[in-house]
This record gives sequence, structure tokens and C-alpha cells, in this order.
Amino acid sequence: MNKNGSTWYDTNGELIQAHGGMILEHEGMYYWYGENKNGATSIAPSGDIRVDFIGISCYSSPDCMNWTYEGLALEASGEPGHDLYKDRVGERPKVLYNKKTGKFVMWFHLDSADYTDARAGIAVSDTPTGPFRYVRGIRPNRSDCRDMTLFCDRDGKAYLIHSSDWNKTLRISRLTEDYLDVDGVYGKAFVEQEREAPALFEKDGVYYMITSGCTGWDPNNALFATSPTVLSGWKLIDNPCVGEHARQTFFGQSTYIFEKDGVHYLMLDHWKPENLKESGYSILPIQIQDGLLTIPFQEYTDLSKK
Ligand code: DGJ
Repeated sequence: MNKNGSTWYDTNGELIQAHGGMILEHEGMYYWYGENKNGATSIAPSGDIRVDFIGISCYSSPDCMNWTYEGLALEASGEPGHDLYKDRVGERPKVLYNKKTGKFVMWFHLDSADYTDARAGIAVSDTPTGPFRYVRGIRPNRSDCRDMTLFCDRDGKAYLIHSSDWNKTLRISRLTEDYLDVDGVYGKAFVEQEREAPALFEKDGVYYMITSGCTGWDPNNALFATSPTVLSGWKLIDNPCVGEHARQTFFGQSTYIFEKDGVHYLMLDHWKPENLKESGYSILPIQIQDGLLTIPFQEYTDLSKK
């Protein structure tokens, strides 16, 4: 079983390359999408630590435990100047299935190596494993987009939650019905609070969001927030992590929250900036009581158990 806080392996014994990722359940199968960082770590002229853009990996699993590599769901382009050329950044991919169109829609943080382009990339596929076709990169509602996630509400309306205003504020931008664009309606959260790495879910009519602070690849104190609506009303509450190394999020950073068999799980990246391809993962159950979140660390999480 893969151990929380360390590197994880797929069914071929290879390092799982799905950083900044998410797990999507579709028709009884689980799909894990994330950044493929299986290349050399280097330093860009701007000083940013990076791996040249390779693409977005997809892994599948019937039990959310044993992950089979399905290849690159979205591949880098070989064309210099292209948004997806190797000199670019493609981070934190999230995928939603659109019931109306029958398409899988991917959003990701699309950027230049110095993180000044700050856009949201959009790609679409007929199947969960891809290939996804790159559609375009946008500035949602004319704002910059860095760390981001997607959230689909019970009514099918979907939202892009993204760090904006140079990471000072988080924005929640509602998507169009086909999920391929923003529809112009947006709200703000944590104005001037510098939060990133958003992950959110809803339970019993309360929306919960976990974010990190902005310290590059280094771990920091996570915070959870609650709200009665997705678009506005967010209030930062406390650090959900408890126990040893809780103030460093167990040396991890939030990337996504998914539900399996009635339990919500937080996915963490354990970045290793000296060799990003060896960054690890954790999947930790979230305890929810009286509107408060508690996340203790545990070495192993058996997701196959109902
Ligand atoms: C923090 C973000 O959460 C990561 O996804 C990545 O963009 C790093 N910053 C880059 O320094």
C-alpha cells in the first residue's frame, strides 16, 4: 500500500506522476489526473524551480488504491510558441464530466516559466483517459489565474476557484453550461489574505474550502473556511490539521477533496523542489463535526474499505 507523505507507485512499479492533481469518479472507475513531472528539475532565468512541461497524466483504478498509468491525457505541444510548449507551465489540472454535453472538461493553471502569464487553460475530451484537445487559455473575467481547482455543485453548476490579483485574493468564477468558459458571474474570497492551493466540497448545505498560504514549494499552515454559498460569504476559520507537524500541513499542500463511500478525503502534494518528480502524496480522511474540519495524519489510508 502506498504510504502517505512519500512517493507513490503505480501498478507497473513506476513513480506516480500526478502532482497538483485530483481524483474523479466516473461510472465506477476512479481517474487520477495530475502534472507529469518526470523530467529534470531546473531553475528558470526568473529563479523559479521547474520541470519542463510534459503534459497531464491520467491513472485509472477500480478501487482508488491500485493505479494503472493510462498515459498523458493532455500532451505538451512540440511547436515553439505554443501555449503547451515545453518551456511553459501547466499545473493543478482538474477534470469535470459534463452531463449535458457528455464531454470531459479539463481546466489547469497555464503559465510562462516566470509565472507572469497566469491564465487558465481549458481542454476537452470524449473519454476520461483522453486525449484531451487543448481549447484555449483565458484570463477568467479579465483576472489572472494561478493555483486553481474546479467544483461542481449539486445543481450541476460548476465553478473555477483561482488565486488572482497576484495571489492576493481568491476568485470564484462560475462556468458556462458546457464548462468551456466562464459565464461572467464571479465572487471573491479571502481578499488580501494570500491563499492558494484551493480544495473545496459541500456537505449538508455548508461549503468548505481548504487553502494553503503562498510560500512557493515550501509547506505552510493550511486553513479551512466555510460559507453558506459557493460564490461569496467565505470566512476563514482555523487550521484543520492536528497533531505533529500540523502547522506545516504534515509537509504537504492541499490540491483536491473528493468523496468516497460517504467520507471526504484531502489530497496533498509533498513537494520536493530539489527533484520535483520525487514529490510525494497523501490522501487523508477529513473529520467533519459541527461545521468544523479536523485532519489528523495517518501513515496509510485504505480507500478500498467501504
Ligand atoms: C505554489 C503552488 O501551489 C504550486 O502549484 C506551484 O505553482 C508552486 N507555487 C511554484 O512555486
